[in-house]
Amino acid sequence: MRAGVLLKKSMLVAMVALIGLWFQAADGQAGEHGKKKEVKPAILLVTFGTSIEQAKAAFANIDKRVKAAFPGIEVRWAYTSKIIRKKLAKQGEQIDSPEVALARLMDDGYTRVAVQSLHMIPGAEFHETHTNARLFGQMADGFDRVLVSMPLLINDASMEKALDIVYKQMVPKERKAGEAVVLMGHGTHHPSDAIYSALMYKARKMDPNYLVGTVEGNPSFEEVRDVLVAAKITKAYLIPFMTVAGDHAMNDMAGDEPDSWKSQLAAAGITSLPVMKGMAEVDAIVDMWIDQLKVTMAHLK
Ligand code: CO
Repeated sequence: MRAGVLLKKSMLVAMVALIGLWFQAADGQAGEHGKKKEVKPAILLVTFGTSIEQAKAAFANIDKRVKAAFPGIEVRWAYTSKIIRKKLAKQGEQIDSPEVALARLMDDGYTRVAVQSLHMIPGAEFHETHTNARLFGQMADGFDRVLVSMPLLINDASMEKALDIVYKQMVPKERKAGEAVVLMGHGTHHPSDAIYSALMYKARKMDPNYLVGTVEGNPSFEEVRDVLVAAKITKAYLIPFMTVAGDHAMNDMAGDEPDSWKSQLAAAGITSLPVMKGMAEVDAIVDMWIDQLKVTMAHLK
């Protein structure tokens, strides 16, 4: 008899506990011990990465401009390039991959994350970042929301704007109309490589001596060179159309090796004048990335 009462009592306690759990589960916002989960937003800036000091200064400038545009919001960085991350780690500088950076943000209790791609085009690295960020957004008891912002060149307007900024702000004033301006894009096996051909078309519409070539895609260097030779150009300003003026700019574009653009143009009778500045060093271009981020942050609220 006495045992029966005890059993009933413990069953009642169990039932009350279960009902309590059910109520807690029904409120999606309830965190540990039923407390409301506070909204903690963060920005993750994702770039290929660099080990070059001048480019690091450009990244510091981006960091400053992003923080000024979004005061009080946590801003973190990640590099997509494993090679650069390993190189920096050997020098004692730890930079996260986008995945590790997202895991850290999750662990630190951030609830909403805007990931801004500081890449030039929506190529392989952008799509990898996008896919993995979305998977992070689906984890149980993780972020409320993860949104990925587009890179620099995504449509007609952004291509024309970027070409215009480079033409007006990066080409040295002493350049004469008969001298060429050649942008060196990276190029890729990814379908978004077509953006560079669109850029070439748009650049030449602005100025027939304004051209775009790529290191690893199309238009090729040979295509650019043939246009310059046919137009009897003798002088060309070379500008890296990449986030930073890194290895490709220093070696493939302006290097002294016989296969650099500078050397190959010299062999065709064309003098090269390299402009060693990456897009991250141009505030008007940086602001184009920040404009993308503003749109994403508005959706994150
Ligand atoms: Co490369």
